[in-house]
Amino acid sequence: LWLFLGIRRREPGEPPVENGWIPYLGCALQFGANPLEFLRSRQKKYGHIFTCKIAGQYVHFLCDPFSYHSVIRQGRHLDWKKFHFAASVKAFGHDSMDPSHGYTTENLHQTFLKTLQGEALPSLIENMMENLQSVMLQSNMLKARRSDWEVDGIFAFCYKVMFESGYLTLFGKELDGDPTIARQQAQKALVLNALENFKEFDKIFPALVAGLPIHVFKSGHSARENLAKTMLHENLNKRTQISDLISLRMLLNDTLSKFNEIGKARTHVAILWASQANTLPATFWCLFYLIRCPTALKAASEEVMKIFESSSQKVDPNNPQLVLTREQLDNMPILDSIIKEAMRLSSASMNVRVAKEDFLLHLDNKESYRIRKDDVIALYPQMLHFDPEIYPDPLTYKYDRYLDENGQEKTSFYREGRKLRYFYMPFGSGVTKCPGRFFAVHEIKQFLALVLSYFELELLDSAVKIPPLDQSRAGLGILQPTYDVDFRYRLKAQ
Ligand code: HEM
Repeated sequence: LWLFLGIRRREPGEPPVENGWIPYLGCALQFGANPLEFLRSRQKKYGHIFTCKIAGQYVHFLCDPFSYHSVIRQGRHLDWKKFHFAASVKAFGHDSMDPSHGYTTENLHQTFLKTLQGEALPSLIENMMENLQSVMLQSNMLKARRSDWEVDGIFAFCYKVMFESGYLTLFGKELDGDPTIARQQAQKALVLNALENFKEFDKIFPALVAGLPIHVFKSGHSARENLAKTMLHENLNKRTQISDLISLRMLLNDTLSKFNEIGKARTHVAILWASQANTLPATFWCLFYLIRCPTALKAASEEVMKIFESSSQKVDPNNPQLVLTREQLDNMPILDSIIKEAMRLSSASMNVRVAKEDFLLHLDNKESYRIRKDDVIALYPQMLHFDPEIYPDPLTYKYDRYLDENGQEKTSFYREGRKLRYFYMPFGSGVTKCPGRFFAVHEIKQFLALVLSYFELELLDSAVKIPPLDQSRAGLGILQPTYDVDFRYRLKAQ
């Protein structure tokens, strides 16, 4: 009967198991409604590790941060590729990018490391800085007289500025030595169109990862295909200043893969999504908490001012040419702490590995558990981020939480008197750690530095409440606010 119902019985040596009440779905609905609450209640009941059936899959949740390492270190029993490659195919509709499936021999992981880190960073930073300033200060962002206040939603503002700047930085520009007004407007229209399609597609993303077919979603489906059309190689080939990431991916699509043209384009949509879907809400939370906290705003503004003064740069919106080098960006501990704290409060990613075979998982407390082949092991770092022992008063925003007594980066966090190795994980962990994380933090820092330098900023309602996190994307990264918050901004008097 157990077998017939698809229900698992706990065998000796296995973690406690919860099958849930609903066939196939198991605990999926309870988990989905509020993962943090669900996991905390199960942790209280079962301890550090327990198994839940979620949408037909048995998932072992490991809740003890001192045991994270046994999953994060790339052991021979655990596979990360299966899950990641399958999720990408489901969401973006390209052929599998796993070399063992025979469509490509590209080592994607290597492509990302080579083009998003180390020597690739300075040119990304330089282009992003230029794009941010031109988008932020162009005439239709500041419509009326330049000294007038402009009202906007904080999320809407971050979305517009970061999407356009990030898009141009990765995918280059159409302008080819022809910066006429008409060409500029055509370029703008293309990016705004991409933004609308991105928003529409992003709405259905959680459903696609959960396994629903894209055909169910008419407008989301056509939005994805519209995006793909703009990224056909024949269109990308007309653009200039394309990033190393996209040009290398184009080359490898053409030389190492059997993808057809639309399939190649869809792999670029996947990169667009990865580069924007977390960055946009992360930028919102950084700016929102910053505007709301006068001491944070003051400390950040002083740090930014000092950096520009020390390199003799003048803030001039009529000649927006501020530059921040990688060294300068890496030397802004206050902004670093501000970004980390905003991400701690808004991140809900899930780290997932799949068991390649039956094996014994050893925990920090010397206990071992039997894990079956094809089972999933998951870490849910929001449990760390909201743990009151690690972060006292965890729901409160403290901009300097990640600063030590010398005003430098704080790296010592404790639980039960023991120093933690893992205490901050919005970018994932181990081999699947986000390869774009350095660029992501740099671009948010650049955005904040420029906004603070060029604009005065105020909330319309200074007592505004913190908007709740939209749980529909829990597990996928930085959560969006359930509603936008209005603010006003105007150019600073020079
Ligand atoms: C993967 C977070 C920005 C490129 C990931 C993962 C997370 C993440 C949690 C999955 C890790 C895992 O599955 O364990 C973030 C956050 C960002 C951000 C919080 C911003 C605040 C970016 C940017 C880029 C980028 C700006 C590129 C320009 C990627 C890529 C992957 C990835 C390519 C897939 C890596 C792979 O499958 O090998 N990111 N990311 N990310 N991210 Fe980011």
